[in-house]
Amino acid sequence: MEAKKVSQSRSIATQLVLPRDSNSRWGLYGGKLVDWIDSIGTVIAMRHCNKRVVTASIESLNFLSRINLGDIVMMDGWVNHTGNTSMEVEVKVDVEDWKTGEKRHACNAILTYVAIDDNGKPIEVPGLELTTDAEKKRWRAAEKRKKAKESCEE
Ligand SMILES: CC(C)(COP(=O)(O)OP(=O)(O)OC[C@H]1O[C@@H](n2cnc3c(N)ncnc32)[C@H](O)[C@@H]1OP(=O)(O)O)[C@@H](O)C(=O)NCCC(=O)NCCS
Repeated sequence: MEAKKVSQSRSIATQLVLPRDSNSRWGLYGGKLVDWIDSIGTVIAMRHCNKRVVTASIESLNFLSRINLGDIVMMDGWVNHTGNTSMEVEVKVDVEDWKTGEKRHACNAILTYVAIDDNGKPIEVPGLELTTDAEKKRWRAAEKRKKAKESCEE
């Protein structure tokens, strides 16, 4: 199977925080952000492998700054690593206050998706063609995470 470039599946999504997305303090409800992150992560993984995928795990999710009602949430995600059937995806979330134009980094998430066939069994995915130093660095870091996880499971 031919390897694919990171740029072929990299995706961007934007959301406006509405009252229905907010908690009682008019901040974005954390579960809603997880929903948005998993949605873009799923799109990225599907674009990479052109197959159905399931979320296998959320390796890390750090809420770094409060997101308020009316803020613009911008998500940028890409594939860090591929195994035989799995893909590690990273999603970076920035938030913009449309009144001031101020932008800040709000969240970083790392998730693993597995491609599945019609019977729900894991199926092979294309490899990743690394073209930049940043992509190579992310691949190495993801490989360490995968190995560490596998050694914990043994
Ligand atoms: C994810 C799933 C398909 C893996 O199936 P499995 O038969 O256990 O698969 P295997 O043990 O052969 O592993 C297949 C791949 O998944 C990866 N994997 C399995 N469980 C994982 C986990 N919890 N975290 C990260 N990767 C995982 C393995 O490392 C392997 O990767 P590789 O092929 O790239 O080396 C299966 O556990 C599943 O369907 N889980 C439910 C998923 C789901 O419903 N998600 C939505 C949650 S609401």
